[in-house]
Amino acid sequence: MQNMIIYYFSATGNTLKLAKLYKQAMEAEGATVTLSEITPNSVSENTKFDKIGIAYPVHGFRTPEIVTDFAKRLPEGGNTPVFTIKTSGEPLRLNDGSYAELKKILSKRGYDLFAEYHYVMPYNMVFRHTDGMAARMFNTAKARVPAHAKAVLEGRGNLVKIPLSARIMSGICLIERPGMRLNGMLYRVSKKKCVECMACVNNCPVGNIRFENGKFRFGSGCIGCARCAFNCPTNAITTGLLNCIKVNGRYNFKAEEDTRIPRYCRRSYEKYFLKDKYESGSLPGDVD
Ligand SMILES: Cc1cc2nc3c(=O)[nH]c(=O)nc-3n(C[C@H](O)[C@H](O)[C@H](O)COP(=O)(O)O)c2cc1C
Repeated sequence: MQNMIIYYFSATGNTLKLAKLYKQAMEAEGATVTLSEITPNSVSENTKFDKIGIAYPVHGFRTPEIVTDFAKRLPEGGNTPVFTIKTSGEPLRLNDGSYAELKKILSKRGYDLFAEYHYVMPYNMVFRHTDGMAARMFNTAKARVPAHAKAVLEGRGNLVKIPLSARIMSGICLIERPGMRLNGMLYRVSKKKCVECMACVNNCPVGNIRFENGKFRFGSGCIGCARCAFNCPTNAITTGLLNCIKVNGRYNFKAEEDTRIPRYCRRSYEKYFLKDKYESGSLPGDVD
């Protein structure tokens, strides 16, 4: 029986859904799986694991810094195999380079990144997919995970060769990290709309939002993860220069599937959905 851990960072819930699907699928194969959230100060669990999973959303064609920083804090790995589960809003191959930096860091720490599984999930920034499309994405992931989880347990590698275009794009997108910190200071809360529920203050993964003397203050540590604006129940947060691509409000993943593909990146979405959707059967039970 294999003892596994999946460390995850999920700003708005998509990646956590995938991590839960893996836990369920791997446990169905007889493994033990612990889920552990990555936070700015989290460190690895003390136990020795047979394999480690790292689940992350693609941010700017890269692994988010909160995740690469976590990888730097891992203790010497003794060549422990690592797999990643990644979610992104679009299926473009430009996202293929997102694991490069993480692999390098892991290798320095003594870990062997051997597999990465990529799932398209609805955007939490850029534009809003329909609920039907969100449901289709989640159902597609659900159908694919059992075979992928099995392959991971068997130690089968699948890392794709990173196209040059993806390397260049993720290099350019490094600018996003300082950019997000600066842009985060431009976030504002509309007094008219805000109901002071404090969801943004209490849930910011890096503790960058404070409420002092009746006013919201945004510090200089924003990672641009979208959690505050996405989850605000009254859509009261404006996100500086990125407000035009803000997405607000949870998706209904139980909606009826929408088969219409958005015009944007149409061909790659079509290719993504056509690929072996029901190859692996679906998981027993339900995962929210
Ligand atoms: C700052 C930021 C950058 C993003 N960059 C990309 C990207 O480069 N490519 C992409 O396909 N999706 C991108 N997305 C979309 C997310 O990867 C996608 O919605 C993901 O499923 C969110 O996962 P989560 O709910 O676990 O946070 C980005 C989202 C944010 C907030």
